[in-house]
Amino acid sequence: MEVKPSKPDSNETYENFVYCKTYLVDGKLKSWSGKSSDVFSNIYTRNKDGEIKPTLLGSIPDMETEPALEALDSAVAAFNRGKGKWPTMRVGERIKCLEKFADKMKNYREEVVNLLMWEISKNKSDSYKEFDRTVDYIYDTIEAYKEIDRKSAKFEKQSGIYAHIRRGPLGVVLCLGPYNYPLNETFCLLIPAIIMGNTAIFKPAKHGVLLIAPLLKAFQESFPPGVVNILFGRGRKIATPIMKTGLIDVLALIGHSSSAVSLQDQHPNKNRLRLVLGLEAKNPGIILPDADLDHTIKECISGTLSYNGQRCTALKVLYVHESIVDEFNKQFAKAVDNLKLGMPWDDAFLTPLPEPTKPSYIQELIKDAIGKGAKVINNKGGQLTNNYSFPAILYPVTEDMKLYQEEQFGPVIPIIPYNEIDEPLDAMAASEYGQQVSLFGRDVSRLAPLVDTLANLVCRVNLNSACQRGPDVYPFTGRKNSAVSTLSVHDALRSFSIRTFLASKDTPSNNKILERLLSSEKSNFVSTDYLL
Ligand code: G3H
Repeated sequence: MEVKPSKPDSNETYENFVYCKTYLVDGKLKSWSGKSSDVFSNIYTRNKDGEIKPTLLGSIPDMETEPALEALDSAVAAFNRGKGKWPTMRVGERIKCLEKFADKMKNYREEVVNLLMWEISKNKSDSYKEFDRTVDYIYDTIEAYKEIDRKSAKFEKQSGIYAHIRRGPLGVVLCLGPYNYPLNETFCLLIPAIIMGNTAIFKPAKHGVLLIAPLLKAFQESFPPGVVNILFGRGRKIATPIMKTGLIDVLALIGHSSSAVSLQDQHPNKNRLRLVLGLEAKNPGIILPDADLDHTIKECISGTLSYNGQRCTALKVLYVHESIVDEFNKQFAKAVDNLKLGMPWDDAFLTPLPEPTKPSYIQELIKDAIGKGAKVINNKGGQLTNNYSFPAILYPVTEDMKLYQEEQFGPVIPIIPYNEIDEPLDAMAASEYGQQVSLFGRDVSRLAPLVDTLANLVCRVNLNSACQRGPDVYPFTGRKNSAVSTLSVHDALRSFSIRTFLASKDTPSNNKILERLLSSEKSNFVSTDYLL
């Protein structure tokens, strides 16, 4: 029976270990006999020596470069310069593999959700949401691909040339996801990449890694050898050498731009490498003088502190108009102090931070801001335990503070008062980031010109609501350093593919060949079948 402590530090012991000793390469679940890395939860329990420490959850292979290159060979061979079984397979057949995988994946819901709670301290309802949203994403992707395929199931004719235009795969994809959505965001890259006919190598993030272990078999049983290869270990031993070979066609990464840049730098042929990147952001909330305060505060709580602010879409700075800032601060501070810190399985809103160094980083930001003139305006702000720093609201924050400059990705909230609307707009224009903004207000004559400007500074303007990625059918992207490519259900299919076509001059002999190509059904590319 698994222990589920009810306090962030607990006297209980944990025994439900997962020792993952396999990895997936070339359709085989290979056993790993080399070194392993222990995986810890930052939730404290009593260990076997009787000490109250971060909980040991199990281990993963600490893989070396050699098997990583073996995985690369397997992905390259499965793509086989476009001749492989997978990239040339009929769309309907690839879809069947995905459906098979989704069916199998559903059997691991409880196991994966349990690991999400222990590994990254995501609360229960959000952990279930992450799992279910990912399964839905797979089915929605299948539907979106059918729709794309149906539109290409035809010939066009221009200037005496028939064209049969489809979307084709790009090649071999290296897929790396983040710790805050270790299942959902990695699959939002991996699923569209493979369904379009690419082959992939996937390495889970440092936290939220054990939860991939139960799915290895489902991947192995659902796809032809080499289509999905899964490795565990450190980026420098796995991702770096893979990139150096120059055999990667697409780098698909959700995480920090520093990782994306250093991996791109390893690739010897920059023009060959395509990028699908979801990177950091510093989404602002702009609160206008006529904002509905009650509603705005609720949205700002969820925007700044859902999953402790560890979301790329989190509101990471609030600009509040001078005329209402005192009242806003009073109500907001009270609302933050009322939030409950607890355990993921108790569905607490605030939960321990999965990165052991995060509480001290947050403290550093607070200290730096205080040293430069800001104050913590909520009573509990910055209260420290070994795995948590209670959300601190800092006011007034200025440009010289680290909290202004860095993406905090954690429970600390900078508030900046403004007088003229150009102040937040200028700051956004100068920012390295451009993902989303939340705009709170009611007066249409004030909102209208602002929406027009903001839409050109970011890629989603949220009116009177927190920033978020979903629904997944909407475009998720960013300007500047926040993203490369777009990741909605539909757009991701485009990002991982390229338009490619058969062109044929309208001559009697060519037309006869086209007719035969179609009726013989010998080509999987040339097909006017309507996919039901
Ligand atoms: O970390 C960034 C995520 O894409 C945010 O997604 O808005 O659904 O939490 P979300």
